[in-house]
Amino acid sequence: MLDIDFQEIIERKNTSSLKWDAVGERFGDSSLLPMWVADMDFPAPAEIAEALIHRVNHPVYGYTMPRKGLYQTITEWMAKRHNWKIEDSWIQFSAGVVSALGICIQALTKPGDKVLVQSPVYAPFFNMVKKNDRELVNNQLIYENGQYAIDFKDFEEKLKTGVRLFLLCSPHNPGGRVWSAAELNRIGELCRKHGVIIVSDEIHADLALGDRVHIPIASLSREISEITITAMAPSKTFNIAGLQASVVISENEELRQKFQDIQDARGFDGLNIFALTAMEAAYQKGAHWLDSITGYIQENAIAAMEFIKNEIPHVSCMAPQASFLLWIDCRDLHMSDTALQKLLIEKGQLALDPGTKFGPGGEGFIRMNIGCPRGTLTEGLNRLKTALTD
Ligand SMILES: Cc1ncc(COP(=O)(O)O)c(C=O)c1O
Repeated sequence: MLDIDFQEIIERKNTSSLKWDAVGERFGDSSLLPMWVADMDFPAPAEIAEALIHRVNHPVYGYTMPRKGLYQTITEWMAKRHNWKIEDSWIQFSAGVVSALGICIQALTKPGDKVLVQSPVYAPFFNMVKKNDRELVNNQLIYENGQYAIDFKDFEEKLKTGVRLFLLCSPHNPGGRVWSAAELNRIGELCRKHGVIIVSDEIHADLALGDRVHIPIASLSREISEITITAMAPSKTFNIAGLQASVVISENEELRQKFQDIQDARGFDGLNIFALTAMEAAYQKGAHWLDSITGYIQENAIAAMEFIKNEIPHVSCMAPQASFLLWIDCRDLHMSDTALQKLLIEKGQLALDPGTKFGPGGEGFIRMNIGCPRGTLTEGLNRLKTALTD
């Protein structure tokens, strides 16, 4: 499958790249190797660049609307890649998935309402709840046989306390879990039972690795679909996060209307011409690239886990089932998170996300972005070893 060359190291400094150009400001040293922010160092599919160039070459960039064909392209993608039959009318757009989460919180809950998350989880989940003055409720994941599992007893206990909305991260970031049909069904049934709406962040959906299959929670049954809003995007999948294009999908008209009301209140008038162009090209022509990149990432994950197992004593990894983020368990080093970061930065010259950024349960972990050419990965792993061994 690997007939596209992902080995080339592309200079990203001075390209307004958050990952490469903000490292000095965030980590105090601009010369560190950045393996933090979750975008990849690979070029996006050539088909996307071609579509953008084609559109740029038309010199009028006036007000924009999605082409009719875009809806069909999205429904076909969901059917083919995720075995999920959706209708054109279920689709709405949002610049980002995080922004979609914020809109959902505003649209579907009131200030003071309880919103449930499962830590450790992508940090904006906490911020979006808190910044919108909702009450954060946490159902902490449990670490079981080297993977995260859901504490369903606690999950139901928490739902019973009057939770209005559950923010699901599927596949999971930072652990890389692809939740099983059984787990998702149970989540769906419990949320139905307790009248809780599910907002499912499935931004990593397309990046399931190996023989793992991502299941959109809303695809499980009509009943679960009716209580769910799902956010997906070509951004992580095709490495076009800078173009800010996301899709929000719900079968439930009332949920869609509430979402739209907030979009209207904010004056959001749709995606820009380049976001729409890139999204359409990605979903129409990007499948082959995606199959190749997931193969490459899988090989990176295997190489990184092997290296860490053989070269860095007392450190282990959660085998990622999706996406390009390696969740590294350093708890057996018995070091504070501050001390760990200091070693990574000063001794390893490496910029990684500390586990504490992902909330309770993240202590003692670090997250390494392995969405990069093998040469960069090898350099990063050597620096990790330098930081964590004598
Ligand atoms: C789970 C999850 N949701 C959302 C995002 C970011 O989404 P966006 O850039 O579309 O706001 C990320 C990025 O890392 C993520 O991991």
